[in-house]
Amino acid sequence: MNATEALIQEVIVTTRHPAGRVHIAPMGIRRHGETIVIAPFRPSVTLDNLVASGCAVVNYTDDVRVFAGCLTGRRDWPLAAAARVPAPRLAEVLAHTELELEQIEDDPVRPRLLCRPVFEATHRPFQGFNRAQAAVVELAILVSRLDRLPAGKIAAEIDYLRIAIEKTAGPREQAAWNWLMERVAGVRVRDPNSAPSSASADR
Ligand SMILES: Cc1cc2nc3c(=O)[nH]c(=O)nc-3n(C[C@H](O)[C@H](O)[C@H](O)COP(=O)(O)O)c2cc1C
Repeated sequence: MNATEALIQEVIVTTRHPAGRVHIAPMGIRRHGETIVIAPFRPSVTLDNLVASGCAVVNYTDDVRVFAGCLTGRRDWPLAAAARVPAPRLAEVLAHTELELEQIEDDPVRPRLLCRPVFEATHRPFQGFNRAQAAVVELAILVSRLDRLPAGKIAAEIDYLRIAIEKTAGPREQAAWNWLMERVAGVRVRDPNSAPSSASADR
């Protein structure tokens, strides 16, 4: 694997099942030349929709509330019609790429969906990196693995990520962080052995 193939970009993937169901999910994508690779862990609505419809949209957004929202039951983000595929795009995005499924590398755990871009558009300029946005994305990934990670590791990482939130967050980043921390605290209440210590999660 060369450096380009190793690069993972965190995006929002939108899909629509042929029966009509729209789904929004954060995913890490890789590029192999022109091809975009999406690799959902089974079971996955994104996987089901993409295989059934043969298309998806990759949305590039700096609104980290969408990442946090999808993991905390807030999936109702405004959508807009895509130009070339039946799956919708997010209405508020910096840019998006419309994809058609070309090949499936099947796997019982994590199939790889090789997709061909058929349309791309830029809607707003990139505004620069923000540390709080990166911290929210990292916390979102931790939250998506809460059942598999040791409590001590989650607590230590939250303590570090919180520094960027306190120093650089705006209202969107703060809201996204709060939603994710509510989820972390909820897991701790249900099972005190599987989530961070109260000292770390509540501060
Ligand atoms: C930044 C980020 C990247 C993610 N990347 C992936 C991924 O590449 N594959 C995956 O299966 N889940 C990934 N997840 C977790 C999924 O978004 C989440 O589990 C989701 O519910 C996937 O299942 P779904 O297709 O049924 O919605 C990611 C989560 C975050 C926050």
